[in-house]
Amino acid sequence: MQTGNIKTANKVRENETIICRCEDLTLEDIRSAIADGYTDFEELKRYLRCGMGPCGGRTCLPLIRRELARVKGVPVEDVAMPTSRPPVQVTTFEAISVGSERGKNE
Ligand code: FES
Repeated sequence: MQTGNIKTANKVRENETIICRCEDLTLEDIRSAIADGYTDFEELKRYLRCGMGPCGGRTCLPLIRRELARVKGVPVEDVAMPTSRPPVQVTTFEAISVGSERGKNE
């Protein structure tokens, strides 16, 4: 009986594991979205905003790809990477700094 309680507690803890700390998404959020039919990273990104936080998905991307691979029964390498969208043009720190100063005076 106690083994069942431990397994249940571990399952609850596993589902509460934060996968995307930028967007505050748990493993349960990811699994629920996958069960709802969002079965690739681009769809999950649009639905949950995972990968769109300040880290740009550096933390959550590999974890979500691994979960997608597990669900689909394929190697992680077969789970498509999301589209990378770097800045349109090079922006210097000086321009960012001036821009932030300009924003303070307005
Ligand atoms: S952890 Fe997901 S975007 Fe940063």
